[in-house]
Amino acid sequence: MSRGCPVPEREDTISGLRVRLFEARAAGRTVGFVPTMGFLHAGHCSLIERARAGNDVVVVSIFVNPLQFNPGEDFDDYPRDLERDLRMCADAGADIAFVPDRREMYPEPVATTVHLGTLADVLCGASRAGHFDGVATVVAKLFSIVGECSAYFGEKDFQQLTIVRRMAADLSLPVRVVGCPTVREPDGLALSSRNAYLSEVERSQAPVLRRALESGATLVQAGETSPAAVEAEMAAVIATAPLAQIDYAAAVPVSTLVADGPLRGEVRLLVAVRFGTARLIDNIGCRAG
Ligand code: PAJ
Repeated sequence: MSRGCPVPEREDTISGLRVRLFEARAAGRTVGFVPTMGFLHAGHCSLIERARAGNDVVVVSIFVNPLQFNPGEDFDDYPRDLERDLRMCADAGADIAFVPDRREMYPEPVATTVHLGTLADVLCGASRAGHFDGVATVVAKLFSIVGECSAYFGEKDFQQLTIVRRMAADLSLPVRVVGCPTVREPDGLALSSRNAYLSEVERSQAPVLRRALESGATLVQAGETSPAAVEAEMAAVIATAPLAQIDYAAAVPVSTLVADGPLRGEVRLLVAVRFGTARLIDNIGCRAG
């Protein structure tokens, strides 16, 4: 594959992508895969660069997946800019941009979906019913289309990363799931396509998510093992931002994402906060006990 092109090679069909990747693998090349919904930013690019560093062929998918949006969510308004996305893919080192349309991905009404267990019912799953089944269904489809590869996901969407990793293991998919660190603005706000929805004043208050997580982590590192105490601390910090409406603040074991007694070992702190129409999420890792 050539590097340094102004745009990556674009592939819009499942069969076309399969043929290309079959040939690449037959020639002994490894495949790195970065699934996205487009409107790329430096967070997405960090995944593409990581895939570039570890593989011979890098595929980025750009598909706004209707199955993972509930009625009333932002599917229709989700920001899109394909030309800019293709240039950013190329700059970050992608070889192929897979850009299927809705009919290519879902030619028939979907009768078969991936149904997840309890990992999908908590945190974001509690306020977005069915969201993670939609994510898992499209990711399973994409993994089936791309085939054997390393796939790169951001820790920014920590519950999604956990679920995808677990799904790949449970279904014995030939995919190595790699988690990558969250890329942030200088003031700590995690990059997100949805930051585009923030007004100027909401944007100025949005770094409160990061500050809440840091306060929570400081408490855990000082020896606090009560999830409720850590959650209350994070909620109190979020409450200092007048426009912030808290959805959840959670302190959970990293393996189950459900609090079950005092915090011990690897812990993840996660928050979800609404600013107007934007729902922002963030998380941080720490060790308890
Ligand atoms: P999307 O929101 O476009 O994110 C694509 C990938 O970029 C995800 O793995 C996400 O965690 C990662 N990402 C987003 N912001 C990041 C940041 N600030 N730093 C590092 N990585 C970041 O997540 C989805 O799309 C969809 O659910 C998808 C997996 C593509 C299935 O439709």
